Amino acid sequence: MARVKTTTPARAAARDLWHHYGRSRTRADRTVPDSFSWVWAQDGGPGTEVLGDLSGLVMADLGAGAARHAAHLATHHAPARVDAVDGSPAQHAMSRDLYSDLAPRLRTLHADVVEHLDAHPGAYDVLYSVFGAFDFTDPRRLLPAAARALRPGGLFAASTLGHYIGGAPAEPDVRHADIPARDADGLPASMRRWVLQEHVWTKLLEEADFTAISIARFPPTTSGARAADTLLIQAYRPR
Ligand SMILES: C[S@@+](CC[C@H](N)C(=O)[O-])C[C@H]1O[C@@H](n2cnc3c(N)ncnc32)[C@H](O)[C@@H]1O
Repeated sequence: MARVKTTTPARAAARDLWHHYGRSRTRADRTVPDSFSWVWAQDGGPGTEVLGDLSGLVMADLGAGAARHAAHLATHHAPARVDAVDGSPAQHAMSRDLYSDLAPRLRTLHADVVEHLDAHPGAYDVLYSVFGAFDFTDPRRLLPAAARALRPGGLFAASTLGHYIGGAPAEPDVRHADIPARDADGLPASMRRWVLQEHVWTKLLEEADFTAISIARFPPTTSGARAADTLLIQAYRPR
């Protein structure tokens, strides 16, 4: 009988589709960024004023990657703590390698964000995501978990794509796209990304019991094949 080469579910789950992301920058740039940008091109636009005065607050970056945004907050502001949470072993390792010296104000945590938030009800003053887990996790799971993990009156803020790279419009319903990715060995794979219209995000946030929801759109400042609008979302857990 012919033998068929298969990938077991356990092996598929173990594939780190974020292995390569930011790897060359990590080798070349070990600094703490001196600014914080929400926009897709990371070239300016709104900054930390979106989050308000962070003094003494407990925060988490959801899908922090190498934790450059979290390192900026821990260094240039005075939060009680920033938890940089990421589910990718490679990204978590990069964040530890780059910024473990910023502990205890910066904590790098290797976890799926929904599991982490579920385990910490009412623990955070601010939760934010910069093209992070918010983009790559089913919002019907992530948003209710985020609402529960915030203290009453706490802030949720996220930047995400306003349309697909290449220009196709965002989805008018809660529907993900399967986007191409590569595993650590360079083998092709796909991952889920949620690129949704403003009214869809608003409805999801309302269903998760958020209030005072606002969504601003920031077009790119330069053109190019990968240029994209950014949606910047802010919402609060009711008091
Ligand atoms: C495009 S990267 C952005 C990283 C970082 N925010 C930045 O701006 O460089 C997306 C990150 O989200 C993380 N991520 C996606 N879904 C996640 C989840 N459910 N739990 C934890 N991390 C997640 C990925 O591992 C990846 O590091």
